Formats: sequence, C-alpha cells, structure tokens
Amino acid sequence: MLACGTLPLHKLASQYGTPLYVYSADHILYRAGLFAAEFTGTPHTLCYSVKANSNLSILKLLAGQGSGFDIVSGGELERVLHVGKAAAQKVVFSGVGKRAEEMDLAIQSGILIFNVESEAELDLLAQRASKLKKRVRMALRVNPDVFAETHPYISTGLHEHKFGIDIRAARKVYAKAAKFKWLDPAGVSVHIGSQIRSVEPFGAALGRVARLVQTLGRDGLKIRYIDAGGGLGIEYHADHAFDPAAKVHSYAQVLRKAIAGLDVHLLLEPGRFIVAQAGALLATVLYVKKNGSKTFVVTDAGMNDLIRPALYQAHHEIQPLKTAGKKTQTVDVVGPVCETGDFFARDRNLPVLTAGDQVALLDAGAYGMSQASNYNTRPRPAEVLVQGKKTTLVRRRESVQELLQPEIF
Ligand code: LLP
Repeated sequence: MLACGTLPLHKLASQYGTPLYVYSADHILYRAGLFAAEFTGTPHTLCYSVKANSNLSILKLLAGQGSGFDIVSGGELERVLHVGKAAAQKVVFSGVGKRAEEMDLAIQSGILIFNVESEAELDLLAQRASKLKKRVRMALRVNPDVFAETHPYISTGLHEHKFGIDIRAARKVYAKAAKFKWLDPAGVSVHIGSQIRSVEPFGAALGRVARLVQTLGRDGLKIRYIDAGGGLGIEYHADHAFDPAAKVHSYAQVLRKAIAGLDVHLLLEPGRFIVAQAGALLATVLYVKKNGSKTFVVTDAGMNDLIRPALYQAHHEIQPLKTAGKKTQTVDVVGPVCETGDFFARDRNLPVLTAGDQVALLDAGAYGMSQASNYNTRPRPAEVLVQGKKTTLVRRRESVQELLQPEIF
C-alpha cells in the first residue's frame, strides 16, 4: 500500500478526489536541510526556485526554515510577498524578459539581487533604479558555454541558448554596470540547465565564474555573491539507486572546490531537488481499452495536469495505491486529453489495472502543478500537504465556473 509517511494515499484520493497532488512537508524540509548541512562553513543562502512548485504553503514551509527564493516573474514575487514581506530580502530575480513594472516591484520590495541577462536589461534596470532612487544589487548571469547532459529543452548553458551573457563579453558589461550610479555590481550568476545528474558540469561552470570574479577583482570590482543557479537532478527511474544526501554532498564538494580562496557568499537555486520526490499525482483509472495489440489504461489525470512526459519524454514511475496482484501487463497509461501526446507511460509493464483503481505518478512534486493548464477546459487538480499525521488541503480543486469567469460574453 502506497503511503505518504504513515498515511495511506488511497485515503487521500477518496477524501479529496482525483486528480490530486499530494506533497510531504517532512520530505521537503529534509531535502532543504541537506543543503544547509552540506554547505555549513560556506557562507550561503538557499534560494528555492519558486517555479518548481509555487504553492503558497510550500513557500511558507521553506521560508519558515530560513530559505530565500529564486523568482522569474512579478507574479512569483507576489507569492513570496504574500508569504511574508521579510522573505523578499532573500529573493534573487532571474529571467530573460523582466518588464519595467516587475523590476519596480522588486526594487521597492528590497530584494537581494537581480540576475541580469542582457545589456538591454542592464540599461532598463539602471533606469528604473535611478527613477526610484534605490541602489540595486545586480549580477550578470553569464553563459559559461558548458555542456550538461539533459533534455535539450531544459539545457541552458551553451552559447546557442537564449540565456545569459557570453562569459567572454562579461568583463566589458561589468565595466559598464559599474558606471551606473544606482547599480551595485555585487555578483556573478550562472545556471546551466535542469535535471543535470552529474555534478562535474556544475564544477566546470563555477570554475569559469571563479576566474571571472578574479579578473573583475583585478579590474577593481569586488564581487561578493556567486549564484550557482539550480539544476541538480534526481533519478526518476525506480531501478536507479539514488541517495539524495550523497548527491548534495558531492555537489557541495565540487562547488566549494571551484570557489576556494574567494571571499564570496554563495547563492543556490535548487527547485526540483527539493520538491520533486516529495510529491505524487494521484489519479483514478477510468477505462481500460484495447486497440489491436495495445492496451490503454485511461486515467482521469491528463497532460494538462502533468505535462512532463509529453514535453520532455520524462519518465514517472506509476504505482497502484492499493497492493495489486502479482500479474502484470504491458500497457500505455494515457489521459483523457485529445492529443496523442497525452500519455504518462508507453509500453510499461505494470500490475494489471482495472477501472476504478487508483494510481500514483511518482516524483511529480516539481514542475507538475506549476506547469498545469486548463487545456480541454479541465479544472486543475487540488493539492494536499501532509505534515506528520496532519493533512491540509492547500489548494482546492478549480471549478469549471471559475474557468469561464474571466471570459466576456
Ligand atoms: N534557476 C534558474 C535560473 C532556472 O532557470 C531554474 C530552472 C532553476 C534555478 C531551478 O532548476 P532546478 O533546480 O529545478 O532544476 N520544466 C522542466 C524544468 C525547467 C527548469 C527551468 N529552470 C521540467 O519539468 O523538467
């Protein structure tokens, strides 16, 4: 029987209905705690990447443990402010397309630092800071041209990608930044991609950043922050051994080695690593149907609820909530959405499932609900947070009425 802590998941599925996202607060705190433990002795701030899972209760949980946040929009900043005005002081603002009003809100909220991704953005930030008469800390997000093995859609650290400023051009842009009265070029930032399972590319990228920081120092610019970005990957396949504590340990070693000797404060922006394995999407089997030689298990959850398999060919383990018989069957697990890409698994050997069975799509805590949509006019799932024996509905299911409400008719 599948459980969250000691709580059987089928009970939650029955109580709240499906599709339902369930998260373990204890596991989220455990994961965040691993970074605190491994980076002890290195001045650092954990800035959880809000985009991975932006539920307010999860942000509150992490803020309560002292976490800061990595945001990419004014909307994400509003979420952090909602959790607590003080949390803004540990916010890093990343993203290639910040608008003036988003910058203004962030400047007025007193965020920690802006990660600037282009010269044009630098000009706009200088203009907004001068207008508001606030000195603003900023870093350039440099593109280190480091290859990291991951899905092409979530790889960012090569010159062919839209992200960051070519590291070879950074020195010139810092010189320009230093001339603006209201800008404080305080940091260098880097993010090479997401779901990166080997720690070496992080070391290579940070090594290049460290050399840049030394060069800038010789130019007379004292860099106080290095933002190492996020991207640390997990194992989605059950048959791959995975020890999260060992992973953070080797990650910390590689980062620390890369910045050894520098007097800087390290910023970390993990998202997936903290929440992915703390969450599951629960679904109910609606039908089992055969087309020729293929068997399809149709669930009430679809690609609008969890788009990762459709978008990145991502693998999520699927398990029945109640102990199943020993017999297995090779099936496609699909959703009700009218798209061939609406699948969770193809040719997967699973315990035999029948209509009414409930299943869990595992490791869905990151980029599940935060990427959910209303495609096919489907209300998004409800979300439940489990802490110890306590369960809290932290987002109720949307109604179709709410979806129609903004339309002018
Ligand atoms: N910092 C920056 C600047 C980022 O762009 C990202 C993720 C992160 C931190 C957090 O990365 P993480 O630690 O979660 O890997 N939707 C995709 C992942 C997109 C990641 C986008 N940027 C997926 O479901 O795999």
